[in-house]
Amino acid sequence: MKIALFGLGYVGVVSAACLARDGHSVVGIDPNGVKVDFLRRGKSPIIEPGLEELIAAALTAGRLLAGSDYATAVAQCDVLLVCVGTPGQANGSLDLTYVRRVVQQIGEQLAAGGGYKVVVIRSTLLPGSMQSVVVPLLEQCSHLRAGKDFGVCINPEFLREGSAIYDYDHPPKTVIGASDERAAAIVRELYAGLDAPLVLTDLRTAEMVKYVDNSWHALKVSFANEVGRLCKAMGVDGRLAMRLFCMDTKLNISGAYLRPGFAFGGSCLPKDVRALTYQGRLLDVETPVLGAILPSNQLHVAHALSMIRATGRRRVGLLGLSFKEGTDDLRESPIVTLAEQLIGKGYELLVYDQNVRLAALLGANREYILTHIPHIGRLLVERPEQLLEHAEVLVVAAASEEFRSLLQGLPSGTSVIDLVGLWNTADGKSTAPVDHYDGIAW
Ligand SMILES: NC(=O)c1ccc[n+]([C@@H]2O[C@H](COP(=O)([O-])OP(=O)(O)OC[C@H]3O[C@@H](n4cnc5c(N)ncnc54)[C@H](O)[C@@H]3O)[C@@H](O)[C@H]2O)c1
Repeated sequence: MKIALFGLGYVGVVSAACLARDGHSVVGIDPNGVKVDFLRRGKSPIIEPGLEELIAAALTAGRLLAGSDYATAVAQCDVLLVCVGTPGQANGSLDLTYVRRVVQQIGEQLAAGGGYKVVVIRSTLLPGSMQSVVVPLLEQCSHLRAGKDFGVCINPEFLREGSAIYDYDHPPKTVIGASDERAAAIVRELYAGLDAPLVLTDLRTAEMVKYVDNSWHALKVSFANEVGRLCKAMGVDGRLAMRLFCMDTKLNISGAYLRPGFAFGGSCLPKDVRALTYQGRLLDVETPVLGAILPSNQLHVAHALSMIRATGRRRVGLLGLSFKEGTDDLRESPIVTLAEQLIGKGYELLVYDQNVRLAALLGANREYILTHIPHIGRLLVERPEQLLEHAEVLVVAAASEEFRSLLQGLPSGTSVIDLVGLWNTADGKSTAPVDHYDGIAW
């Protein structure tokens, strides 16, 4: 393919060299004459293992050009890759000056015609930027329609400095958010040689992915360091503790617990996080990451409450009560907390949980309900149908097959607030068969 690549920074130069190596014709465009000059001489403007060799080879093969002629680049290329910087401003907000400028330059050249081309943004943009900035500017400057006269994609980059070429060749995934099928197919072609799962998605999701990734990476580093500081203060080697932690690829280094849903609870997680942060305080070790966990969890419960309040309805049915589906353990269940807040605010609440029916309960949990939460015990119903008859709002707090089939026959007009993703399909999309549906994080 003929590719014009705008922005010869870290991402741009690595992409240009790898695309040229893979047989594409690449012209790199940058207003910075020094970078252009470097490429023209077969040199790398950045230090990155193996990059200079790739650039030199691409130059010799005649597949890599560099310059600052936007008109020719746009006229002669089918794919217009944007790799300009998106720096952060002092207050954290994203500076889109370079993106606006380059998109304007491209748009003005698109106006000259030359057939269907795809503008692909590789820079990191916040969700909504494509729809609110990039697409309108391109359309305004070109007097053409995105998705019809030209394509628009966002294709986030996952490489790391220092291992950029290896990362380019071995991405964990290739994500393409596209305006239309035709654009997606062209961008997909660019990566035909890569052995990585390719995901086609909407623009906003593709924009978000990079932020989720990078926040997670940052959280991992801070978590490991904070655990390390705590370990050291307690006479434990933090490196060993984290090595043992990483050995658990079932619950620790895995997709476990990484699906948005309701708050955590139970007899262990809150207690242990509390104990560790308290120990940190005793030892004068500050633990802002660990310390933020319980407040964040409480905020999630408060958010569920505000969703219920926003329906404007007062008769609420709660499907599920125990902290974990399939158990009857109510200790520190965040759903109990939610129920208490609803009661406190005067909602008419009924609760059904097949595992928590007073009549059937024995021993510790019956005792727990009768002594600790008798006000909730009184609201438990034996049959789910009683809840359907009562509720204007149904709050789903456990993902069970029983609830899925129960809600098939829901009276129209009943609102459903889903805290657990009851109908989540494998691709994460919700396909709730009810009229008034709202998910807590989707
Ligand atoms: N650096 C990384 O490891 C990395 C990894 C993944 C994603 N990203 C993202 O990719 C984007 C680029 O990052 P970077 O580190 O390569 O940026 P950078 O600052 O190193 O390079 C940006 C380049 O764009 C050029 N530029 C500015 N305006 C231009 C215009 N109108 N036309 C053509 N070129 C123009 C600049 O001269 C500069 O050479 C950012 O959004 C960044 O967040 C970076």
